[in-house]
Amino acid sequence: MKIGIIGSGNIGATAARLFVGAGHEVALSNSRGGQGLEDLVGELGSKAHATTIEDAARFGDMVLIAIPFGKFSTLPADAFKGKVVIDTGNYYPERDGKFAELDKDETTSSELVSSHLKEARLVKGFNTIYFKHLATQGDSSKSLEERRAIFIAGDDSKAKEIVARLIEEIGFAAVDSGFLHEGGRGQQPGTAVYNKDVTAKQAAALLSAD
Ligand SMILES: NC(=O)c1ccc[n+]([C@@H]2O[C@H](COP(=O)([O-])OP(=O)(O)OC[C@H]3O[C@@H](n4cnc5c(N)ncnc54)[C@H](OP(=O)(O)O)[C@@H]3O)[C@@H](O)[C@H]2O)c1
Repeated sequence: MKIGIIGSGNIGATAARLFVGAGHEVALSNSRGGQGLEDLVGELGSKAHATTIEDAARFGDMVLIAIPFGKFSTLPADAFKGKVVIDTGNYYPERDGKFAELDKDETTSSELVSSHLKEARLVKGFNTIYFKHLATQGDSSKSLEERRAIFIAGDDSKAKEIVARLIEEIGFAAVDSGFLHEGGRGQQPGTAVYNKDVTAKQAAALLSAD
């Protein structure tokens, strides 16, 4: 599969390494038109190249967004049309600036991203896992229930299935927390599952705790 990576820092670069390791092709991007990613591209080899955000989004059958959440409205929505999009973002007002509708809990960060990327098939995912755990804790030799959980939420069940398959390919287990509005809310900073290092088997208990 071709995967566009929007933002190639802690989460984007870690995911790109895992995706290439699983045999996928990645287009990496950052805020500088892909400049500064030469070492990462060199490390990843022929299955990776660096480009602009727009071209990375157009390249991917799937697109992973891993930029500071507050910048979401700068993304070129047209380029994400029809794509399965993984939104890894979390709202941190001190970093992202204040969003009144989030502070009042009227909506969630991923719903804002989804309204901006109107025609994307958005799945919230990879947002609860610390990037160092993502880098080291995948283990395809384990059964799905003994693997580390990566929580996903979204309204497009086919898109969630595609993301879940990718998660399994990189040695984790996808745990579906539900639709974007409620499930996604249950994956945000401060929730029971956020930044928790749990197996898929343990995950169900955490989800019901919220
Ligand atoms: N760190 C974690 O463990 C972790 C875990 C789960 C979820 N998250 C969430 O994932 C998102 C990314 O976090 P991170 O830790 O990976 O961040 P990071 O290491 O700071 O990397 C951010 C990346 O986004 C790019 N970027 C910044 N502003 C941009 C813009 N306006 N347009 C396009 N690209 C832009 C940066 O490009 P330049 O280098 O050119 O600035 C960089 O490649 C955040 O929402 C974070 O809350 C993080």
